[in-house]
Amino acid sequence: MSEGVTRRGFLGTAAAAAATANIRANLAAAADGMRSHTVRPIVISSANGLETVTEAARKIRDGGDTLDAVIAGVNIVEADPNDHSVGYGGLPNEDGVVELDASVMHGPTHNCGSVAALRNIMHPSRVAKLVMERTDHVMIVGQGALRFAKAHGLREKDLLTDDARRIWMKWKESHSDRDDWLAPQKPPGDTRKRSDAAATKTEFTYGTIHCSALSAAGDLSAVTTTSGLSYKIPGRVGDSPIIGAGMYVDNEIGAAGSTGRGEAVIKHCGAFAVVELMRGGLSPTDACLTLLKRIANHTTDPRLLDDRRRPRFDVKMYALNKSGEFGAASIWSGGRFAVHVNGESRVESCSYLFKRD
Ligand code: GLY
Repeated sequence: MSEGVTRRGFLGTAAAAAATANIRANLAAAADGMRSHTVRPIVISSANGLETVTEAARKIRDGGDTLDAVIAGVNIVEADPNDHSVGYGGLPNEDGVVELDASVMHGPTHNCGSVAALRNIMHPSRVAKLVMERTDHVMIVGQGALRFAKAHGLREKDLLTDDARRIWMKWKESHSDRDDWLAPQKPPGDTRKRSDAAATKTEFTYGTIHCSALSAAGDLSAVTTTSGLSYKIPGRVGDSPIIGAGMYVDNEIGAAGSTGRGEAVIKHCGAFAVVELMRGGLSPTDACLTLLKRIANHTTDPRLLDDRRRPRFDVKMYALNKSGEFGAASIWSGGRFAVHVNGESRVESCSYLFKRD
C-alpha cells in the first residue's frame, strides 16, 4: 500500500485517523471522476483561475506552447485589481509596498526561471520567463529583478490600489494596541462602541495563483505567481518563486504547484515531492494528500496547531500527470480548484485532510 494511507507515524491521533478516513473517501471519488477525463488540453489552477484555465486551453488549442499558454492565463489575474493575492491590487508588505514572487517551468526543455520580491511590475510571471530565456540564471530578486525587467522594456506601475491600501491600513491600525496607529474615530452620532477598524482583526492571507497545463502532444508547463503573504516583512520570499516548492514540472511525469502557507511548502519541497510521488505511482490526488499529510505530521510548533494538534493554516496542492489525470487537495475542507478538461472549464472541490467544524 502507498505511503499515503499507511504511514504509522501519522496515525497516532484521533485527528489523524479522521484524516485518513477522509483520504480514503476522497481517493475513491477522485479516481472515479478521472476515468472519463481524457480530452486535452487539460489545464488546472487554483480556484481564482477559472478564466485562466479557459484562456490557457484556448491558446494551446490554437497551437501555442504550454508555457506561453499558462502565462497568458495567469496574466488575467495578475492584472485584476480585484484579486488581492496576485499582481496589481495584491496586498502589500508591512510597509505598504506590493512585492511579487513568480516562477515558471517548461516541460519540453526542463528549463525554468523565477523572480522574488519584485516591485512595480504587474506581470512577474513574464519576468520569470525572461529570466529563463534571456539569462544563464534561474532566479533574480529584488532591485536586480526590477532593473532586469526594465531593461527588457517592462513598464513600472504602482501596484498598490486604493482598495488594497485601505485593507492594509485597516490591518496596520488594528493588529496591535501597543503602537501609535489608531483606527478612525467614530463619526458623530455613531453609537457603536468601537469603529469597524478597531473591532475587527485583519487576518493574514497567502493567496496565489498556480496553473499547470498538458497539451494533446503530451507536453507540460506550469507557473505560480503571487503577491505573497499579506503584510509580510519586506523581502520575505514564499514558496511561489522557489522551483520545486511552489511549482515543478517533469515532462515525463507531471506538473504540480501550491498555494497557501509557503513556509510549510518550502520545508517539504512541495511541488517536487508531489511530482516524485506521482513518479512512484500515486495518482495526482493521492500525491497531493500524501504531501499534505507530511506537512501536518511535521508541524509541531504549538503556535501553528489547534487544540487537536492540527495545523491552523492551510496549504493547497494541485497536480496533473502525463496521462491527463488531475487532482487537488487542501489541508482543510472547503478548498476549490479550477480545471479545463473535455473542452469545458469548471470549479471542483479539493480533497482534504481535515473537515472544518
Ligand atoms: N504560497 C504563497 C506564499 O506563501 O507566498
